[in-house]
Amino acid sequence: MSAQIIDGKKVAGELKLQIREDVENWVKAGNRRPFLKVLQVGTDPASTAYIGAKTRSCNEVGIDTDTTHLPDTVSAKELKSVIKSFNENDGIDGILVQLPLPSHLSSHDVIESIDHRKDVDGFHPMNVGRLAVDQPTFKSCTPAGIFELFKYYSIPTKGKHAVVVGASNIVGTPMSVMLSRESSTGKATTTICHKYTRDITVHTIAADILVVAAGQPNLIKAEMVKEGAVVIDVGINRVADETRERGYKLVGDCDFEGLKQKVSWITPVPGGVGPMTVAMLMKNTLLAAKKSIYPD
Ligand code: GUN
Repeated sequence: MSAQIIDGKKVAGELKLQIREDVENWVKAGNRRPFLKVLQVGTDPASTAYIGAKTRSCNEVGIDTDTTHLPDTVSAKELKSVIKSFNENDGIDGILVQLPLPSHLSSHDVIESIDHRKDVDGFHPMNVGRLAVDQPTFKSCTPAGIFELFKYYSIPTKGKHAVVVGASNIVGTPMSVMLSRESSTGKATTTICHKYTRDITVHTIAADILVVAAGQPNLIKAEMVKEGAVVIDVGINRVADETRERGYKLVGDCDFEGLKQKVSWITPVPGGVGPMTVAMLMKNTLLAAKKSIYPD
């Protein structure tokens, strides 16, 4: 068997065309263009690259954006007062604080200081909590993007056994909630594996749907998955590659070549989940501008 490839780049491109049309209709109806404010603390190169991708996407779909840069020495108090000014600015629809933050800052405190009505990342406890109780919310972009892929490729989740490897706040935990709950199609029997799981293979081999977001290259090998499984690889790892000018290549958490022979569907890295995350951020920013989740 050779797996069918889930082409996130293509699906994200189609979604962004739709969002662009929705944005133009919103503006034609007399509304201000949606505005996304990005905040970067420090100069982490990976964060700079992610912000570059988000800015380019905004330009593609017609959402206005700019990035405020703060030094990595900024105090929690200063950072929160900047966020407060964004919360109070009616010209800003969505606020995104790029993570990770320098270690002296608590990401929990910082995220909680964002107005949940502008939290287009879906990281604020209000939005995470509403997700857990199946209420309308800003859904965390990566899990939401994965559900768009299931929809696009007609991959059912209802009644399946889904296994999520990794329990981060950004991906693993919201993904497991969305898989298990009624909303977003979900309705799967869901297992979460994390750093305390004794033998992850016992679980991964039983998965109809396997979502891997552990940040460890080559963690999942062919012998760890069931024949015909659906594999979603969320990992984006830089590994040294001297044949490339930039000195590294991007790989996921799965042995793509090995798994491809055994599973029914698989996402590549790059070009799988990554572009979907950015497309969902655009969708959330438009929802924020329209006040669709939290009407006044
Ligand atoms: N760092 C890694 N992924 C993300 C994300 O989706 N949003 C933000 N704000 N920071 C990140």
